[in-house]
Amino acid sequence: MKTSRIPGFYNLLLDERTCIVAEWAELTSDEVAALRESLSLAQADKMIENVIGRHALPLGLGLNFIINDREVLVPMAVEEPSVVAAVSNAARIARAGGGFLTGSTDPIMIGQIQVLDVPDLDAARQAVLDAKEDLLARVDQVHPTLVARGGGARDLTVRILRETPAGPMLVVHLHLDVRDAMGANLVNTAVERLAPEVERLTRGRVNLRILSNYTTERRAWAVCRIPVSAFSEKGMNGRDVARGIVEANAFACADPYRAATHNKGIMNGIDAVAIATGNDWRAIEAAAHAWAARDGQYRALTDWYMMGDLLVGKLELPLAVGIVGGATKVHPTARVALKILGVRTAQELAEIMVAVGLAQNLAALRALASEGIQRGHMRLHARQVAIAAGAEGEEIDEVAARLVEEGNVRESRAREILERIRKS
Ligand code: MEV
Repeated sequence: MKTSRIPGFYNLLLDERTCIVAEWAELTSDEVAALRESLSLAQADKMIENVIGRHALPLGLGLNFIINDREVLVPMAVEEPSVVAAVSNAARIARAGGGFLTGSTDPIMIGQIQVLDVPDLDAARQAVLDAKEDLLARVDQVHPTLVARGGGARDLTVRILRETPAGPMLVVHLHLDVRDAMGANLVNTAVERLAPEVERLTRGRVNLRILSNYTTERRAWAVCRIPVSAFSEKGMNGRDVARGIVEANAFACADPYRAATHNKGIMNGIDAVAIATGNDWRAIEAAAHAWAARDGQYRALTDWYMMGDLLVGKLELPLAVGIVGGATKVHPTARVALKILGVRTAQELAEIMVAVGLAQNLAALRALASEGIQRGHMRLHARQVAIAAGAEGEEIDEVAARLVEEGNVRESRAREILERIRKS
């Protein structure tokens, strides 16, 4: 049976790691090449304007994930050391509770039409609502292929903003099921097409016609239930660590200064998968932070609490990601990342991303509530230094452990230690 639990993966040579993932995901030689060569200059030149080169990031693999009983390897593109190791460690701990369970709403995006100079706001609102069926049918005519794929217009709502710096305005929201697309283009086309009819119905003047990145109707969630005994590592009492995690979460629920850092840690994981799969991480960030402030105060996105001997963690947020169109389609590494994930729908991708965010948060809180974050960073840094000094296989851990013990993480010292190990 396939397992994402691959002990010692970090000690393998890069080529060996590539072989493992190639076998796991049945990658072709072209796909393996795409992991290494990534985007060509010619492809880059077609993606954006004024291209002068490419900008690469390391692509790592988050290990140990079980999501809805499926073993999952998670490609993550990120510049920050420790993120991939930390999330893999948390996913390993979560396995003690069966991993993560996830769910999501239908992939419904919102498009906004801003209407000004409306003579009678309440009458205009009613006129738009009375024409709802007709307006929704117009949208489906614009996007017949989307309808054929099971998506299409779902609802239309009207909000009145009575007081704004530019006076009162009416806002029409179109709810569009975009299926496996991120959906920005689908939504923007739809609201642009609806605007003249909305103008006629409201007798107002339409200004903006654009999607909302606050994608409240397109949410995903993940839950884990971990026996506290899983935290009894390195001489620590598992229940104390679990309690520390609950207390850390409470801090972020009550204090925006802590919540920003807490949520940044969650987004370390979510963004890394977004970038690996060619998704728009700014859109994802915008939605996450707006959701974190939905009751008027910016708070933690997660919930952690004790249930008997279990530590329960939950994360839910609006998450608009696609697996067709845009960079997901043209970026060769993004295509391979999606293949490694084995996702068939955008919803599945969003759900994995939320599980990764929850695991990333667990990793941070566990470290912060026990040994502190710097020790782990130091250990990882020491490993890199040991490798740079020429350590191989089991030597790496041995040299790294000595460097940490001595509190002297320098390459010159690593070389000395290595020499001594090899002589003995
Ligand atoms: C660092 O990138 C992220 C953390 O600061 C998150 C947190 O404090 O929860 C470790």
